[in-house]
Amino acid sequence: MRAHAVPSLGKMVFSEEDIARAVARLGAEIRDRNNGLPLLMIGVLKGALPFAADLMRALGDYPLTIDFMVVSSYGAGRSGDVNVRLLKDLEQNPAGHHLLLVEDIVDEGHTLAYLLNNLRSRQAASIQSCALIDKPFHRVVDVKPDYVGLRAPEDAFLVGYGLDFQENFRNLPHIRQLRDHIPT
Ligand code: IMP
Ligand code: MG
Repeated sequence: MRAHAVPSLGKMVFSEEDIARAVARLGAEIRDRNNGLPLLMIGVLKGALPFAADLMRALGDYPLTIDFMVVSSYGAGRSGDVNVRLLKDLEQNPAGHHLLLVEDIVDEGHTLAYLLNNLRSRQAASIQSCALIDKPFHRVVDVKPDYVGLRAPEDAFLVGYGLDFQENFRNLPHIRQLRDHIPT
């Protein structure tokens, strides 16, 4: 493949309707479990950008403030060391807040574990995590999101609705597989 070649898209895994249904259900679950307790939603960029935008609107008039973190994981691979780096921190101090961490996808679990440790050490009052997509069969670190929208099919590398392959495809409104198998 040339340096700038991008693999072509394969079959549709989650349609816009599938995503909208999952987001609406998550919004209802989050409302039900939190009983009007004000939440600070933390969107984990860049992957959770469209999901956080849709989820906050699914929460409608629920008392909510929002902030963002940007993280990046390097050296991903089933056996290798994974290094999660914080590229942009929250604007506000999370101490004393009830946090709702919003993630695109939980795969091996390194990113979620890093974020939970980071936020716990800063005296958050409570932390819940919500992932649009879970890949529970890939887990290396023992973490489990409190809310899960959709479960990925095994051995699919997914792109679209925020998910990227080398920064491409985040803008698709639905979620697809890549045509060529991408080793993860
Ligand atoms: P973890 O730290 O292994 O749980 O990986 C989480 C991160 O890996 C996500 O935030 C994504 O950036 C990336 N990732 C894992 N699986 C996929 C996928 O199927 N498509 C796109 N990105 C993925
Ligand atoms: Mg990524």
